[in-house]
This record gives sequence, structure tokens and C-alpha cells, in this order.
Amino acid sequence: MFDVHKDLLGLKDLTAEQINKILDTAKTMKYILQQKNRKTEHLKGKSVVTLFYENSTRTRLSFELAGKYMGAFTSNITSSGSSVAKGETLIDTARTIDVMGTDVIIMRHGMSGAPHLVAKNVKASVINAGDGMNEHPTQALLDLFTMKEKKKNFEGLKVAIVGDILHSRVARSNIWGLTKLGAEVSIGAPLTLLPPEIEKSNINVYSSVQEAVLDADVVMGLRIQTERQKSGLFPSTGEYARFFGIDPKRLTLAKPDALLLHPGPVNRGVELSSAVVDGNSSLIDEQVTNGVAIRMAVLYLYTKGE
Ligand code: CP
Repeated sequence: MFDVHKDLLGLKDLTAEQINKILDTAKTMKYILQQKNRKTEHLKGKSVVTLFYENSTRTRLSFELAGKYMGAFTSNITSSGSSVAKGETLIDTARTIDVMGTDVIIMRHGMSGAPHLVAKNVKASVINAGDGMNEHPTQALLDLFTMKEKKKNFEGLKVAIVGDILHSRVARSNIWGLTKLGAEVSIGAPLTLLPPEIEKSNINVYSSVQEAVLDADVVMGLRIQTERQKSGLFPSTGEYARFFGIDPKRLTLAKPDALLLHPGPVNRGVELSSAVVDGNSSLIDEQVTNGVAIRMAVLYLYTKGE
């Protein structure tokens, strides 16, 4: 039995065993995706709704494709094209979706904790597709899956996460997942983009990109999230790129076979140079491909409970 809660709200709530079960299931799902006929009936008769209050390309589409490949009915709701725009509350919106017989609600919201609130008010399973600055569990799961495919195990793996840590739900979910699986995590960011209290956590904290990436097995760049920054936390994107951007020279400080990850979308020339995005170390496209397998695994496990 896959002993899960009703909902997937964050990696903070999962054990290493549960994370590994999702990664193992995703391996099977990736195999299915590589077949000529990639249709399965794991979700036949189930209804999956994506409810997105923030924009998305990768997460929303990969959940939709994952549901469709497994035979589910999938529907999409965005805040601008629904009765949310008429003032309907979050809970009323979620309940409306729930009472139509929906099995899974995939939800993205700008407020940290919004999926937790919805989960308490609906019968459907709620999957967090990113809540404010809190967590983005399926992004971290696909990142972990991508690392595991290449590096095999996490024990002692050195992972550097560089960029806008303060606003990054991807960083938070990855830190939970990586530390639970035994990896050594280093973060690098300007002091203005480091969360308060971070020094008390079980990771290495640096205010320079060079120190963070030194000897790393994996370097993960993060997007500068200008939409969440009320005031300038660095002088300009040009200066950010100069001091914190990852370029081929900075990447050579990591191990020679280091992998380069980024959750996307990338601000080319800001957090990553184009040479790095399109370089040999980059796994950005593989991350996107693996995102479908991970979301198939999550939908399967959270609807079957096996
Ligand atoms: N990485 C990620 O969440 O991308 P989207 O915003 O395109 O879904």
C-alpha cells in the first residue's frame, strides 16, 4: 500500500519512502510514455480538474496530458476565464468543482497555504501545483527523478541551488526532498534573496554563486521572480547576471560531469546564460519530459491509494 494522505500539498509532509515510491512509479510511467501506444486505463472514469490562479505552461499541460494518457476526463479552469473573475471565493469555487464529482483538483495559487485550505473543504484529492512562496512538490519530484536517472542515488550527492531562493517554492520543495533523501544541499543568492532564518536549516548557505557551486554534482538555477518582488532586491537584471548568473565559466567550478537544472521558464541572460541553457550539461528539456511521467505517477498513486 502507498500510505499517502488524501492530498499532495508538499514534500515537507512526505517520508523518504513515499518520495521513493513516487519516483519508482514514475519510472514505470516513463516506460509507458516511450511506447508507441502510450495510452493506459489507470484513471479510466476519473475526473481531473486543473484550477490555476497563476499562469503556467509546463505544470498545467503536463498534468492535463498525464490525465489524458491514463484515460481520465480532464478539464481546466483559470481565474480569468471563470466565475472567480466575478468575485466567487476560493472555497466556493473549489466546492463547485468538487460537487460535480471531481476526483482530483490540481491547484496553483499565489497565496501560500491556499491548497491546504481547499483540501480541508473538498472530498477530491488536492494536488499542489505551486502555492505562493511555499511549495511546488511535483516540480521537485521531477527534479529528483531527473537527478536520480543520471546520478543513481542521493546519498552524499552535492546539489547547489542558486538564485531567487527567497521567492522560490521550487527551492523549498527541493530542499525538503533532497535532505530527506540524503543529499548535501548548498544554496547561493544575494543576501536580499535569502529567506530569513535560512541559516538555521540543515543546508549550506552562501552569498556567492562561486562558493555554492564549488564541487557540485548538480547545479540548479532558479528564475528571478520579478512578479513577487515589490521593491528592488538587486540593482538591475544586468548586475544580477554579472554577479549571480550561471555562465560556462562559473559552471566549471562544479564537478566536470555536473548536471545543470532549471525549473523553467528561464530568463535567458539573467540567471542562466544561453550557452548554459543550450549546453551539454543542461537537462532542462529532460526535466520537462520527466514532468509528464511524475504527474502520471502522482495522479495514479493519489487516486488508487496503492
Ligand atoms: N516550472 C513551472 O512550474 O513552470 P510553469 O510555470 O510553466 O508551470
